[in-house]
Amino acid sequence: MVKEQAQQAAQSPAERPIYHLKDVVKTRASEGYSFRLRVPSLRITPGEKIALIGESGCGKSTLLDMLAFVLQPSSCDTFEFEAEGRSHDIAKAWKRRRQNRLAALRRRHLGYVMQTGGLLPYLSVRDNINLSRRILGMKEDGTVEALAKELGLHRHLHKLPGELSTGERQRVAIGRALAHRPAIVIADEPTASVDPFAAEKIMALFMQMVEERNITVIVASHAWRHIKQLGLRRLAHHTRRSKDGRMAETVVSG
Ligand SMILES: Nc1ncnc2c1ncn2[C@@H]1O[C@H](COP(=O)(O)OP(=O)(O)OP(=O)(O)O)[C@@H](O)[C@H]1O
Ligand SMILES: [Mg+2]
Repeated sequence: MVKEQAQQAAQSPAERPIYHLKDVVKTRASEGYSFRLRVPSLRITPGEKIALIGESGCGKSTLLDMLAFVLQPSSCDTFEFEAEGRSHDIAKAWKRRRQNRLAALRRRHLGYVMQTGGLLPYLSVRDNINLSRRILGMKEDGTVEALAKELGLHRHLHKLPGELSTGERQRVAIGRALAHRPAIVIADEPTASVDPFAAEKIMALFMQMVEERNITVIVASHAWRHIKQLGLRRLAHHTRRSKDGRMAETVVSG
């Protein structure tokens, strides 16, 4: 343990992992079914592009929600997050019920493209993209317009999400996740509800945009084929189910 700490201290900030998890467990149960996600060890370094690929129900969103500090682990040995040269003990923050601190870290450093899109239906495209900036009190500086142009949304800025196609809505969600220039973007099935051709195009655009901005990316998807072409590092995972199907456990590491 002491040796490990000394090694970490000797690493330059660029080499230190953004996420360092050890023996993190999340258990979920409802109506006689139980699910357990176990992460024996996970290290994600700055600028890495990570993919979590697996079938429905294997725990992808569960892991991403923990990495976004919205879901509290049931237990953990180590859960550290490094941002702007400072290490944050997430395990301790959860234990001490420091939800405000976790929310502040999330707002500042993370962008989250949610599986369900998560756009606010009563805000225009412009205001949806700008939301992550507005929450942080960032000034209008043309970022929203530039992002909209890159995402092919500039003609739709005044529209409400309900007036857009599914693919357009997903591009708005991507824009919002990038607008406040976070260090990390977490994307949960960012192309789940569009046809495979559109999905491939949106993913390629998304990866190009995060590459240009040197953002660390963690993306969950079923679509391994083009994820592989985009050069992401795939996390290993293994799911075991009990014979009666009432219990499942997924182990993820990487
Ligand atoms: N709020 C909850 N309460 C209880 N169990 C839950 C809850 N949310 C998810 N689960 C269960 O946890 C397991 C993992 O769910 P999760 O949403 O992480 O899977 P997923 O890999 O993201 O699936 P999908 O590809 O369908 O999005 C599933 O068995 C699910 O039924
Ligand atoms: Mg999911």
